[in-house]
Amino acid sequence: MNRIDLRSDSLTLPDADMRAAMAAAELGDDVYGEDPTVKRLEARSAELLGQEAALFVPSGTMANLIAHLIHTRPGQTLLLSESSHSLLYEGGNLAAFAGLLSRPIPDTHGKIAAAMAARFVMQIDDPHFSHTTLLTIENTTNRGGGTYYTLEEAQQLAGLCHERGMKIHCDGARLFNGLVAAGCSPAEFGALFDSIYYSLSKGLGCPAGAVLAGSAAFIHQARRYRKMLGGGLRQVGVLAAAGLYALDNGYIEALAEDHRRAATFREALEAEGFVFPQPFPTNIAYLRIDNPMAALQALAAEGVLTLPHDPMHLRVMFHRDITDEGLQRAIETFKRLLKPA
Ligand SMILES: Cc1ncc(COP(=O)(O)O)c(C=O)c1O
Repeated sequence: MNRIDLRSDSLTLPDADMRAAMAAAELGDDVYGEDPTVKRLEARSAELLGQEAALFVPSGTMANLIAHLIHTRPGQTLLLSESSHSLLYEGGNLAAFAGLLSRPIPDTHGKIAAAMAARFVMQIDDPHFSHTTLLTIENTTNRGGGTYYTLEEAQQLAGLCHERGMKIHCDGARLFNGLVAAGCSPAEFGALFDSIYYSLSKGLGCPAGAVLAGSAAFIHQARRYRKMLGGGLRQVGVLAAAGLYALDNGYIEALAEDHRRAATFREALEAEGFVFPQPFPTNIAYLRIDNPMAALQALAAEGVLTLPHDPMHLRVMFHRDITDEGLQRAIETFKRLLKPA
């Protein structure tokens, strides 16, 4: 039986054409700056995101860490949403390696409002207080159910940060999901930030990697930090080729299909009395359920894989490896096994 794996969009596998592009990639040693395919992906990504330069990094976690290390000094305060990935799921790296005081901001479905962030900025010239120097937002939000920032909301946040002499970073693990749903130009959105990255290995279907973008001076420093963190890779054009293939072949635009399937899933299950407590405008849904572990096991026995979220919710995520047929089987399996009384 084919599995329908709704645990995460990070589970997408490179398809045959992407693998062929990887096999054919022109390679060199990227630590020596000699991998032409990596250079092409970096130049392409910088232009796409309205930034001067970009850098291939092994993971989103490393992209976030590099940005936080560059934009701050130990002992300073970072503002980020209370449900953000950087705060909750990156192993405490901001405390361990960047020496930051992370100040969680109350959010609405993962999103921070500029007025709320403004209340947490502390820059008093008094030795009692840590200075707030950076705000990080997530687009789309993971625990917020895939909600996204509009251009105007991001402009307000960037405006606040720059007025206060702070930097702003965007964790774009699912950046293009948000931009596609908002109908927003990547260059206009990206240019608002001091640094921004997107993941190759989530909805875009590549096996690994992320691309971090910013000013030329920022990326120059980022290259040094990437090396310090052990992220300088050699013939990594083999991975960059997958990214270029995704960009060149409509994989960004195809994210709208994942959103359509997620919406169909929601409508079909809501009609049967299932409850989704958050809006889910892109590809991530949290389903309220009495006993998530029992539900997860029952679904898994029928080949439908989901992720436990908390004692009341299961997470499902749509991605390019879920077909319309898989969607229908998932809907039917949820209804049959878990229909609310
Ligand atoms: C919002 C968000 N940021 C960062 C990451 C980390 O990305 P990576 O797994 O590439 O380190 C993830 C991973 O799921 C994520 O969802």
